Amino acid sequence: MEIHANPAVFLYISLSLLLHLTATSSFSPADSHLINCGSAEPTTVDSDDRRFTGDSGIHFLTAAKTVPLQDPNPTSSSSPIYHSARVFTRPSSYAFGVREKGIHLVRIHFKRFNSERFNLFDAQFHVSVNGYVLLYNFTGESTQKDRPRPVIKDYVIWVDTEKLVITFTPSEKSRIGFVSAIEVISAPKDLIADMAQSVSSEKNERVDGLLKNAFETVYRINVGGLKVTPLNDSLWRTWLPDEEFLKSSDNSRRVFFSGRIRYQLGRASREVGPDNVYNSARVVASSNDLVPRANITWAFTVTEGYRYLVRLHFCDIASVSLGILYFNVYVNGNLAYGNLDLSSETYGRLASPFYADFLVDGDTSGVLTVSVGPSNRSMPHEVDALLNGIEVMKVNNSMASLDGEVSVKSVLRSPSRENVGVLIPLVAAVCLFLTASIFMQWRRTGVKDSVAWSRLPVDGSAAYSKV
Ligand SMILES: *[C@@H]1O[C@H](CO)[C@@H](O)[C@H](O)[C@H]1NC(C)=O
Ligand SMILES: *[C@@H]1O[C@H](CO)[C@@H](O)[C@H](O)[C@H]1NC(C)=O
Ligand SMILES: *[C@@H]1O[C@H](CO)[C@@H](O)[C@H](O)[C@H]1NC(C)=O
Ligand SMILES: *[C@@H]1O[C@H](CO)[C@@H](O)[C@H](O)[C@H]1NC(C)=O
Ligand SMILES: *[C@@H]1O[C@H](CO)[C@@H](O)[C@H](O)[C@H]1NC(C)=O
Repeated sequence: MEIHANPAVFLYISLSLLLHLTATSSFSPADSHLINCGSAEPTTVDSDDRRFTGDSGIHFLTAAKTVPLQDPNPTSSSSPIYHSARVFTRPSSYAFGVREKGIHLVRIHFKRFNSERFNLFDAQFHVSVNGYVLLYNFTGESTQKDRPRPVIKDYVIWVDTEKLVITFTPSEKSRIGFVSAIEVISAPKDLIADMAQSVSSEKNERVDGLLKNAFETVYRINVGGLKVTPLNDSLWRTWLPDEEFLKSSDNSRRVFFSGRIRYQLGRASREVGPDNVYNSARVVASSNDLVPRANITWAFTVTEGYRYLVRLHFCDIASVSLGILYFNVYVNGNLAYGNLDLSSETYGRLASPFYADFLVDGDTSGVLTVSVGPSNRSMPHEVDALLNGIEVMKVNNSMASLDGEVSVKSVLRSPSRENVGVLIPLVAAVCLFLTASIFMQWRRTGVKDSVAWSRLPVDGSAAYSKV
């Protein structure tokens, strides 16, 4: 029997197969290391159903002195990955092999506890990765002081070496560092573009070379929606609701969408933002013949002296048809995108995600604001502004640090007791030698010359301050 293949049917089948594949294929990272530090268990399943590997006897921990520590009184409500920690009394590193160079997500978890051997509430330490300072004089304390919740630090690091090395250096004062869990995951190539628009009161301009920087995600907000947990995000991120950041929201309302979010090639992918971020939004809408004169504004506490990459997520789930939504986007009160027309940015599709990146300086006010509001093309009786998600990422400073004016060099060379022990006899020997030679010189010439003792380092600190 002969089968007559109908090209149209064939095309239809391949197309639907392709669509099916693109719709269901989930992102699978080349590098994925989930480590439950200090745990003797081969694997631990966390509260988000992810499998973390214990770090006892593993080959990627390179350290002189580390101690696995169990929490003697773990809270049953906390994720099992926080029931142990690895403690460092000397500089120590985890080195992860990198299969695929490029952007990596690095998340480091800290949960302090007290035990007979170490009190992690006394810890103070520095954390660096591949030449960047991530944390300096860090204590593991949560910024929300009322609850001893775990602190999760979330970074994006460009890796062009064979290894990603995370180093923990106990500070001079405490001599204790610790870590509860580590995630190192390769990110999809399109997660961060090399280019963004910088926005200031003087001018807006294109900035290139973004990928050379390290980023710390300080806020990740699901505007108008619920908290999104790692379980609902293909890159295992957490997105918080926007209420506590909302500064003014007159005339605004929340909208929800239960249809399918239409991800498109060349626009925001599901890894850039999950469905749960794009299917909720906050909008300014007009219900009469007037376009409301109102912005929705969100405010975030930031640190002066750093640049921030602000990623805004849009998905028009609110308009009834194409070509009727136009609005302005402001960052720090400066126009970042005038008359944004989502219909044209999404190639003429509703419910299709789009994002835009803006670079701004954290200024003296210590507050970064994002606003959306009607533009001069906004229409009455329609939606006049919309936003679905906000990410605020701190960019490393010129010393390659995300936590102060310190370089990795100075962090890694921070003196330990042994060095001071060597230094004191060394200084004494130098003094003795100089005394002897001056005495000899004096004897030879019979003249007291002008060597000033005050110029000699008499303690270790003077010598170290030059390092
Ligand atoms: C770090 O901590 C030490 C000891 O508490 C302190 O002397 C030093 O000033 C701190 N450095 C910075 C930059 O905060
Ligand atoms: C996250 O996913 C779970 C399981 O798929 C679902 O039950 C839950 O409603 C989702 N949460 C949100 C915020 O969408
Ligand atoms: C919205 O905010 C921008 C920037 O602060 C301001 O210039 C504009 O006038 C505001 N629009 C309305 C309608 O308040
Ligand atoms: C409308 O906005 C655009 C860009 O935001 C601006 O160039 C134009 O002058 C504005 N038109 C009016 C009438 O305000
Ligand atoms: C961040 O660190 C990199 C690597 O040292 C450096 O090239 C870059 O200029 C730094 N970024 C800023 C904004 O200074």
